[in-house]
Amino acid sequence: MNVAVMGYGVVGSGVVEVLAKEHDSIAKRSLQETLEVKYILDLRSFPADPNAAKFTTSFDDILRDASVQIVVETMGGLHPAYEYVLACLQAGKSVVTSNKELVAEKGNVLLRAAAENNVNFLFEASVGGGIPIIRPISQCLAANELDEIAGILNGTTNYILTQMIANHLDFDTALKQAQELGYAEKDPTADVDGHDACRKICILAALCFGTHVYPGEVHTEGIRALTLADVAYAKAWGGVIKLLARAKRGDNSQIEAIVSPALVQNDSQLAGVNDVFNAILVRGDALGDVVFYGRGAGKLPTASAVVADVVDCARNWGKNRMLLWEGARTDYVRDYLDSETAFLVRATAEDVPAALADAERVFGGVHTLTRDGAPAGEFAFVTPADTERALRAKLGALLGVKILSVIRVVGY
Ligand code: HSE
Repeated sequence: MNVAVMGYGVVGSGVVEVLAKEHDSIAKRSLQETLEVKYILDLRSFPADPNAAKFTTSFDDILRDASVQIVVETMGGLHPAYEYVLACLQAGKSVVTSNKELVAEKGNVLLRAAAENNVNFLFEASVGGGIPIIRPISQCLAANELDEIAGILNGTTNYILTQMIANHLDFDTALKQAQELGYAEKDPTADVDGHDACRKICILAALCFGTHVYPGEVHTEGIRALTLADVAYAKAWGGVIKLLARAKRGDNSQIEAIVSPALVQNDSQLAGVNDVFNAILVRGDALGDVVFYGRGAGKLPTASAVVADVVDCARNWGKNRMLLWEGARTDYVRDYLDSETAFLVRATAEDVPAALADAERVFGGVHTLTRDGAPAGEFAFVTPADTERALRAKLGALLGVKILSVIRVVGY
């Protein structure tokens, strides 16, 4: 059986490397005599690469070659990845991708195209890198009604937060360090502003709850605004701040979904997930909580997830895996302001005792926090739980108070 790889970046080159290095065992597991990479599509040239003869710049070479039955898409981005993948599926080729943007934006269309053409569209590597999460959710946990998912889904931001918490580096210094170590891109927007985690939670929500969720429907906040003062108040409360991507089955056939910094208690299973590691907590009715943990990024962990999908496609050649979710619905994702939460609030006021007394009155009691080295006029407290809309209205009603930060408190 022949394979084509589109995109020879970090993940694509890792896939080619793993397929060559482990050829015999992979072919055996795939129930094939051979599993060869026939083409590598990339616009750049790699003259010194041992696979130089396999390179092409023409997608048509892959599309028109009937001997290529499995195509790996590791180009990233939405276009032309979407057009290429759709064309491959319609031509009767199975496709494996690590491209979360593609799955989050076009997953239901591509899964339908795969089903209609009796091939497969698999994307284990799109969430959690090397952590098996797509297959367990779609297969092993199928007997459970899944109610909730909460994940540390972005390694770069988790590394930055770990440095802020453990080594007291401020955000800019921690980001610079992450860039020097090659974790964060030169333009770190997708990671630090939460878009990468948002795409991943959309994929998990679609799998768990059966309906497509577009990233644009999910309220998303990143970690740029977090300070060491927030980290210190979180510690005083007995917790740590994590960038959490969350989705939850709600009332009236709706779901709640959000990406934001969140305060988790020190004894939470998510609190000890540090550096570039990812963790995904899945809460099911019969199952309780299950946590998947591991390296969420990196060449070989991600390539290994892609290759596992290639093996699955090859083994199941001629059979569609029946992985499908419905198209997006309007009003399916609830307004995040209607979700219940509590807030960790950091603020300043000229008269702190009066401001705290006001907060006590407005919220019906608050948990006041202190930290060493706080400048005069700064104070912090944790509110009781209420809808986010009600909490924000109450914050707005505090007199003579300037709100510096608001962090949601979660109960995982
Ligand atoms: N930039 C991503 C991360 C890579 O830091 O987690 C894996 O999707």
